[in-house]
Amino acid sequence: MSKAFIYGKMVEGDNFTDRVKETRRLKANFEEGINTIVISPRRIGKSSLIKRVKDSVDNPAIKVVMMDIYDCRSEYDFLNRFAAVLMKEAAGKMERILDTIQKFLVRVVPKVSYSPAPLMDYSISLGITPQNYSPEEILALPEIIAREQGVQIVVCIDEFQQVGEFPDSITVQKRMRGVWQRQQNVSYCMYGSKKHMMTKIFQNKRMPFYQFGEITYLDKIPREDWVNYIVSRFSTKGKTISDYFAGKICDAVDGYSSYVQQLAWDVMQETESEVTEESFASGLEALLDQNAGLFTDQTETLTSYQMNLLRAICSGIHDEYTSKAVTDIYNLGTRSNIVRIKTSLAEKEIIDVVKGKAYISDPVFELWFRSVYL
Ligand SMILES: Nc1ncnc2c1ncn2[C@@H]1O[C@H](COP(=O)(O)OP(=O)(O)O)[C@@H](O)[C@H]1O
Ligand SMILES: [Mg+2]
Repeated sequence: MSKAFIYGKMVEGDNFTDRVKETRRLKANFEEGINTIVISPRRIGKSSLIKRVKDSVDNPAIKVVMMDIYDCRSEYDFLNRFAAVLMKEAAGKMERILDTIQKFLVRVVPKVSYSPAPLMDYSISLGITPQNYSPEEILALPEIIAREQGVQIVVCIDEFQQVGEFPDSITVQKRMRGVWQRQQNVSYCMYGSKKHMMTKIFQNKRMPFYQFGEITYLDKIPREDWVNYIVSRFSTKGKTISDYFAGKICDAVDGYSSYVQQLAWDVMQETESEVTEESFASGLEALLDQNAGLFTDQTETLTSYQMNLLRAICSGIHDEYTSKAVTDIYNLGTRSNIVRIKTSLAEKEIIDVVKGKAYISDPVFELWFRSVYL
């Protein structure tokens, strides 16, 4: 039986809603070989969307390969991940993996490990190092495979902002762009959540990836779509929720995809047959409880000035922190200290600064913070 609500991992099928326009647009880009960059906050739905687009491409001459580089710490970590995913794609069947590696990467000694049946998935470790392959040779692989197989390849790279953290990052990025922009049969889709880093990589004139492709910011899923989705998912479990409460679920978490699904799930657990004010409130409480541990960890490392700024923001004060009205209530230190607090909270991704005004990034963090500290 399918789950009513899913959160914390990629969603597909009945658990995927809306995104019709975005899917169509990205699909066209994939088919036309247009490089695309997708940016949004975490857990809005980038990975799910790209998977959806991959599944929607029905032209057998277009191969879409997906990789996630969230755990890559260096250029060669990346090159190993990149090559491994491409080898799997080129092999198609598991039985052909060793031959495929032999063909495209003669100088490595691969290790293949199989997970137990019936899953029969497998992982490969290629052992690519500066001693056996140069970065350029590995970066060239997709084009070689595409030609050999007579296909177009779309390489999708999740959490691409990691590249910005690699040692000697600019050089690494120069090499990538240098090789990739000459490829005729390969295009790229990079996506990631750290807006600050993603925009630095792709929108800064002095950076290698400047104007590499079309940049899209992924918006939240519209409220009407959430309401319809929540109502229909409740009904698959024989429970009822009014449009009013479905909308309230969406509003409580400011339309953040993952939280909408999590809160809907929590409210459903608290509901016998039809959602009421009480079951809604218990669901919301459960959501806060589930996240409290993480939020506590996040705030434990903050200074008291930083906590004071969060208090001010949660009380509805978004700017003019140096004014007497604010400093009378919240101890934020000197003028230059306030600038530092804002910068460091933004770097920790706890706040977003939009046109000079500070906001809490995570709506559930804000609810939790208010319930504990205000
Ligand atoms: N199109 C969608 N329809 C319904 N729920 C979604 C959708 N996209 C994302 N979500 C919800 O958000 C969660 C995170 O999605 P994910 O694609 O992993 O986001 P991201 O890659 O931006 O971090 C999913 O587990 C799901 O609960
Ligand atoms: Mg993701």
